[in-house]
Amino acid sequence: MEAEIERFFQGTAETNLQKYHLDLRKILTTQIRPHGRINEWRRLLEAVPPETAIPSFTTDTVRIGPEGKDYSTQLKALTPWRKGPLKIGKTIIDTEWRSDWKWKRIKPHVVDLRGKRVLDVGCGNGYFLFRMLGEGAKLALGVDPTILFNFQFALMQKVTADNNAYLLPLRSEDLPAFGMFDVVFSMGVLYHRRSPLDHLQELFNFLRPGGQLVLESLIIEENKDNLLIPEDRYAKMANVWFIPSTFSLEVMASRVGFQDSRIKDVTLTTTQEQRSTKWMEFESLVNFLDPADTSKTVEGYPAPRRAILTAKKPI
Ligand SMILES: C[S@@+](CC[C@H](N)C(=O)[O-])C[C@H]1O[C@@H](n2cnc3c(N)ncnc32)[C@H](O)[C@@H]1O
Repeated sequence: MEAEIERFFQGTAETNLQKYHLDLRKILTTQIRPHGRINEWRRLLEAVPPETAIPSFTTDTVRIGPEGKDYSTQLKALTPWRKGPLKIGKTIIDTEWRSDWKWKRIKPHVVDLRGKRVLDVGCGNGYFLFRMLGEGAKLALGVDPTILFNFQFALMQKVTADNNAYLLPLRSEDLPAFGMFDVVFSMGVLYHRRSPLDHLQELFNFLRPGGQLVLESLIIEENKDNLLIPEDRYAKMANVWFIPSTFSLEVMASRVGFQDSRIKDVTLTTTQEQRSTKWMEFESLVNFLDPADTSKTVEGYPAPRRAILTAKKPI
């Protein structure tokens, strides 16, 4: 993972991210989350020989690493795999999420990414970073504090040709106000934040004037002004703090200064899109829904429904 962080600093030395390098190095020394398996994962990654296979980022299944090579031992050691589908070497990873379905819903609402610098906050293992490069982005930076996902990304990068997707193990609230990204993505993060307006403000500060926000979040549709603050868990997740209605999400984005804040899509999450697989053997959506009424979670809240919002930072 450390080598992957250095690749970011080298790969962006000639870009306008360079002026944030010192700040980022400082944040990285204090903010990386400790993890009990980090040394095991480091050893595992160090033992993988570097490769320069040409990847495929334009297909629903991101293909990475030399076609015939077997990385199954390393891939199993790095489970659960949540975002994909991926093919790493000879192994197809049927991830918990059909993230390609999310990408298909999102893509029509995103500006042309050719030549753009993009930031993906809470990017998981980087599946979407690769898809963004596949759409022509010249730089795709992701941040995600979950150490496992950083190791999954580092493994994928170690076995592929050098490219401009980077991942730093940081939280968005620790980042500097870059003010330079053409497009900022925040997908599946807002409801994990205690303070959604502060999150929207951060996203605003990462964008250049005129840049686009692409936000995806759990929402509730019931009532125009509604928002849901779960009393305890939501769909068995302990870290869901706040689920806005589509209307309040648009208003919140406008309140922090975005223009043209619009909901572009609302989709009920299905048990085909999110499910347990061989690569994610824990409980998944089917276990989070009330078996007697799947329009509700086991806690009795509306079942997960997700919206895509786009907005623009004024020039
Ligand atoms: C529900 S997943 C969404 C992953 C991916 N963006 C997607 O849409 O499929 C939420 C991700 O946000 C990350 N995350 C949680 N808090 C965060 C924070 N404060 N800053 C950045 N990422 C965060 C988690 O580690 C996790 O990978």
